[in-house]
Amino acid sequence: MPPALEQPFRIGPLTLDSRVILAPMCGVCDVPYLKLLRRFDQRSLIFHEMFSAVGLVHWKSRLKVDIPPGLRPLGLQIFGHEPETMGQAARILAAAGTDVIDLNLGCPVPKIAKNCDGSGLLRDLPLLGRILTAMVGAVGDQVPVTIKMRLGWDEEMRNHVAVARLAESCGVQMITVHGRTRSQMYSGSADWEAIAEVASAVSVPVVGNGDLWDPLIAAERLKASGCAGVMIGRGAQGNPWIIPRIDTYLKTGEMPPEPAPDVRLGVAREHCRLLIEEKGEAQGVPECRKHVAWYTKGLPGSAELRHAVNQTRTAEALFAVLDDYALPA
Ligand SMILES: Cc1cc2nc3c(=O)[nH]c(=O)nc-3n(C[C@H](O)[C@H](O)[C@H](O)COP(=O)(O)O)c2cc1C
Repeated sequence: MPPALEQPFRIGPLTLDSRVILAPMCGVCDVPYLKLLRRFDQRSLIFHEMFSAVGLVHWKSRLKVDIPPGLRPLGLQIFGHEPETMGQAARILAAAGTDVIDLNLGCPVPKIAKNCDGSGLLRDLPLLGRILTAMVGAVGDQVPVTIKMRLGWDEEMRNHVAVARLAESCGVQMITVHGRTRSQMYSGSADWEAIAEVASAVSVPVVGNGDLWDPLIAAERLKASGCAGVMIGRGAQGNPWIIPRIDTYLKTGEMPPEPAPDVRLGVAREHCRLLIEEKGEAQGVPECRKHVAWYTKGLPGSAELRHAVNQTRTAEALFAVLDDYALPA
């Protein structure tokens, strides 16, 4: 067994009983989705979508972090670039009740990255060092600070090992690596050899991320890379089961079956209910559309269902469309 897998999976004072982590995803990993996922998995660390540090600290109508009980082990993530603000934001997240506080070093969206936030920080390591020192100084004795990074800004600036070593020297307790550069966005495939380079360069746990679509691939990548854990993003869209399925496969070598179509449909319905309950009809119904599309992808008649769902404006109409959708016997 690779050395990382012989050790318990520890992030500072936290010991995790699963090596699988749900990735933070804007517009996906909100409270309704996290609540739903917890019905299938109570062990894995799950990340909420990122928060703006400036929004938490400075906006007039400050972002509220309202985390219900029952979601832990939970990770909260911030993006931003001003060290003092980042330290203050970390304190706000620590008070909200979280098991880790993560710094986003991966977001490639131009308006964020060009502002030296997200992956933009990979181009300014002195500033990154000051931010991490501020965050660890603010909360490090209560909550572990972690980072989630890409391999670098672009092919010419692949500085993943330098970023990881800097983070470790600042007191960061876990490093997640998405195996792409910022300029790749989501093109090509994740470079798991580069992820392995990070795993062998630092002594804190490294978590590999990128293109893990099923338990077999996840298990292979975990073993070959020397990582302590794997993080799942797009593979968990409309598919909360992937997290416990990978966990079970890693622990037992047995492959849990994929959920049956009627189960997928029932969970899609429940996800919509939770989302509308949390956000109200006007915001919730449009947000349900992409989730229904993900849950039903590949099912017979799913294109027609998607089309019908996209026309709905009310919860009543949305649930009527879902009820009318008949799976072939
Ligand atoms: C819709 C979407 C939203 C995302 N939002 C975030 C985010 O808030 N914070 C972050 O660090 N990464 C974010 N990511 C990146 C993912 O966490 C992950 O690193 C990336 O999708 C690669 O993993 P995957 O191949 O398993 O999807 C997002 C990705 C997607 C597709």
